[in-house]
Amino acid sequence: MKSENGRDDAKRRAGESAAELIEDGMVIGLGTGSTAAHAIQAIGRAVSEGMDVYGIPTSFQSRALAREVGIPLVTLDDALPDIAIDGADQVADGALVKGGGGAHAREKVVDAHAARFICVVDETKLADVLNHPIPLEVLPSAVSAVEDSLRERGGEPTLRAAERKDGPVITDNGNPVLDCDFGTIEDPDVLAASLSVIPGIVEHGIFAAMADEIHAGFSDRVDIRSV
Ligand code: 5RP
Repeated sequence: MKSENGRDDAKRRAGESAAELIEDGMVIGLGTGSTAAHAIQAIGRAVSEGMDVYGIPTSFQSRALAREVGIPLVTLDDALPDIAIDGADQVADGALVKGGGGAHAREKVVDAHAARFICVVDETKLADVLNHPIPLEVLPSAVSAVEDSLRERGGEPTLRAAERKDGPVITDNGNPVLDCDFGTIEDPDVLAASLSVIPGIVEHGIFAAMADEIHAGFSDRVDIRSV
C-alpha cells in the first residue's frame, strides 16, 4: 500500500503536468478534489508570474482555492473553457467515474463544454474495467423513488452520509448524493444512458467518452494517454 505522502506526490505530478498545458489568454475549467487542487495551485503560481488566464470553478471548494491563489474567475455565461482539468475516482479505457466530492453535476457541465478535457489521477485510480460505485446527485424528494429505480437496474444504492454531522452529504446545488454499486460495469455508455432517463437524478458520475487526455501520476513519472 502506498503511503499517503507518496500518493499525494503522484497526484501533484499529474496536476502539475496538466497545468503545463495552460497558455496565456486561456479560460480554464477548474476541477474539484485533491488532484485538481494541485493543478489549481500550479496555475496560481503561473498567474503570480504574469500569465493572463481565467478560471471557471466547478465547486465551492475549487472557487475558494482559485481565489486564494489569485486566479481571476469568470462563469460559463462569459466564456466556454479552452481546457478543463479535473480529477476522477476511477478510470478505465478512457471512461471515468467522478463525484467522490459530490461535485460531478457542475464538473460535467464545465468539462463537457471545454474544448479539451484533461483528467488528472494518481495511479491508484487506473483500472481495467470500471467497478467503482456511481455517485448520483438526486432531488431530495426523489431519493426513495430513485433508489427503487436503481435496484430495478441491478444497483445497490447507499445514501452518502456527512462525515462531521448527522444526515446526508448535501451538494453545492442543495441535493443529497446516492452511491450506487453496480459491480463490474462492462458498458459505461449503456449504464450512463439508463441512469440519464431516471426522473429525479440531477446527474450521474459516469463521464464516458469525455476526457481527451489522462495524466496519470506515478511515484517517478506521469503517463499521458490520449483517449
Ligand atoms: C469530485 C471529483 C473528484 O475529482 C474525484 O473525487 C477525485 O478526487 P481526488 O483527486 O481528491 O482523489 O469527482 O466530485
